[in-house]
Order: sequence, then C-alpha cells, then structure tokens
Amino acid sequence: MNVPLLDVNAQNHPIADELRAAFNGVLETGRFIMGSEVEQFESAMTEFLGVKHAIGLSSGTDAILLALMAMDIGVGDEVICPSFTFFATAGCIARTGATPVFCDCHPDTFNIDFASAEECVSEKTKAIIPVHLFGQSVDMDACEVFAKKYELKVIEDTAQSLGAQFNGRACGAMSDFGSYSFFPSKNLGGLGDGGLLVTQNDELADIATKMRNHGMHPRYYHQMIGGNFRLDALQAALLRVKFSHYADYIRQRQENAAYYRKQLASLDSIILPTEQEGYAHIWNQFTLRVQNGQRDALKNYLGNQGVGCEIYYPIPMHQQQCFAHLEGNQRTSLASTDQLSKEVLSIPIYPELSHEQQDAVITALKSFQS
Ligand SMILES: Cc1ncc(COP(=O)(O)O)c(C=O)c1O
Repeated sequence: MNVPLLDVNAQNHPIADELRAAFNGVLETGRFIMGSEVEQFESAMTEFLGVKHAIGLSSGTDAILLALMAMDIGVGDEVICPSFTFFATAGCIARTGATPVFCDCHPDTFNIDFASAEECVSEKTKAIIPVHLFGQSVDMDACEVFAKKYELKVIEDTAQSLGAQFNGRACGAMSDFGSYSFFPSKNLGGLGDGGLLVTQNDELADIATKMRNHGMHPRYYHQMIGGNFRLDALQAALLRVKFSHYADYIRQRQENAAYYRKQLASLDSIILPTEQEGYAHIWNQFTLRVQNGQRDALKNYLGNQGVGCEIYYPIPMHQQQCFAHLEGNQRTSLASTDQLSKEVLSIPIYPELSHEQQDAVITALKSFQS
C-alpha cells in the first residue's frame, strides 16, 4: 500500500463544492484585493486566537519579515532564533539587514533552548524568534522570563502551530507578534500561499497594516516603507471554508498521533516525539528520532515500501552556506541541533490518513527493526 507523506486532495476533494461556491462568490463580486473576504477571515482568526488584531498576509515568510520591519529591526541589530527550524525564520532576519544568531534546541521537544539562547545575547540583541515547531508550543514561561531579562521583542513563529496552546493560551498570541503560514502542508492549508500576523498591540498593528500595503496611508502618501504583503481575497475565501472544518482536522491529527504512539511504543531503535502536558499539540509533523545511525537507511527502506517520509531538517541554520560569513558563535557546533539533524525523520500524520494506511506505516517501521 502506498502512503504519501501528505495528500492535500484527500482533504480538499470532499469539500470541493464548498470551495467552488467560495470561488464563485469572489468571482461574482469582482473584488480580488482586500475587501470583506479578507476582513471576515481576519475576524475569524482574532476570535479563534483570542487576539485584538489579525492581519492577513501573502505568506508565513512575509509575516515574519513584516513583524521585523514593523519593529524597525535592521542593520546593526541581532536577532536570536533556533538553528533547528525552517529557513524562513532566519532568512527574514538577514533580509532586514540584521544578523541572525543561532541557538540550540531541546532534543526531546525540538524547540528552542533558552539556556543556549543566553549565550547568544549581546548589546546588539533586539529580539528573539521562538518557533513553535512541528505543532507544539515553546515553553513560553521561559520565553517571557528571557525576554524581560534582556528587554527583547518577541515574534512567535507559529507557522506550524495554529491552534496549539501553552497552558490555555494560543500559540502566537503571547508576545509582540505571532506569525502563521497557510502553505498547503500546514494544518490550515490554503490552495496556494497565505499568511497571518497577530498582535495585541494597537500601535504595532497599525504599522504592520500600513506596511502590508506599501506603508501607504492615505492613498499615495507614504510615511514608511512597506511592500505588497497582502492576502488575496480569493485565498481568504477558500481559507474560511477550510477553517470551518479545522476542529476536525486537528482532532484527526491528534488521534493519528495517539495511535502511532501506542503502536510504536515498543520500538527501541526509535525515540517517539513527546507531548508536553497542557500544550495541546496539533501535530503538524510526527517526527521520529532514529537511533544507531540508521536514519538514512530507514528513510530509504520506507521509500521502497511505498511510505512517504521526509527529513525536517537535514541542515541546520548555523551550517547553511549563506550564513557562513557570520562571525562569532553562529557557526560553532550546537550539540542537540547537530544530533537531531542526523536523527529526525517525519512520517505521514495528515488528518485523512486511514487506519489501514497507518498500519502500513507501522508494519514497515517494525519490519525494518527486525
Ligand atoms: C517554521 C516556519 N516558519 C516559516 C515558514 C514560512 O511560511 P510560508 O511557506 O508560508 O512562507 C514555514 C513554512 O513553510 C515554517 O515551517
């Protein structure tokens, strides 16, 4: 049996009529840029996340970039982020002219290690970007203590964790800015690119809203430089349809994760992902740590068995060529990050995965072991 790592059609085809109706609605209005579709999506997000402001954007990458721009971070500044993340987190810091400074992560949660972040602080440090990786919250109590101690701005990169929580509070809603992605592989996957920025801060919301549209206010007057970071009306309409099913998508991912955790508990060549109490993990990825240097062999084996799997992430940020010029601690070894990049392997976890498909994944994993 073939089990793909992700199957977006399995999610979109059953709601094709609803998606077509949303498309037709936008086609009828002829309003493709901003307007009520974007506003309605933003207000659904403010309600869901319990925040004051939600700003629909062109991608999760642009959300991080815009947050940094709105906080006036640039040349001469340093911003701390985990090395074990998707490139966008670090790339956006560098694009502002600031310097990304990479810290280590906890091997059990894959998330940022604030003890390691302590070693990255200098008088130039302006902000930190914790990343809620794979669907699970960062320890935001530790983040708050850290940010207060060094008077840093915080942007939560929540691209993979829309709806995950930290002790009852929504990921992305616990700092200056929270950024989200609606890339098709995300838990709320659009039919194309899309993103979101949320904040409780009126002033930051005002700046980010203006910068989303070239910093223009009023029309053709520019007190600040922004860009075209707008979410399409069409994408907003489609995302609203998908959001109406979101609770089911999350529940199914959680059920799939629970099934794997039960069925794979006896495999001692694999460390299963952990779920912190009170964190409401939403399982954007189910990531194994393959022991005894067998990760690449297992990846090949699963591929041959028709089971999709992927390495998130094989090359950490402090090892990337484009950051090779950075001086100081950026290129030193980060023990847990380096170890994880050699051990991790993500297996299919998407909501529509059937029990038969999950059993095929489990059988393949067990047959590699024996
Ligand atoms: C952790 C993280 N940050 C940022 C992004 C960027 O989001 P997007 O692909 O929507 O630009 C992604 C997703 O790709 C991500 O996984």
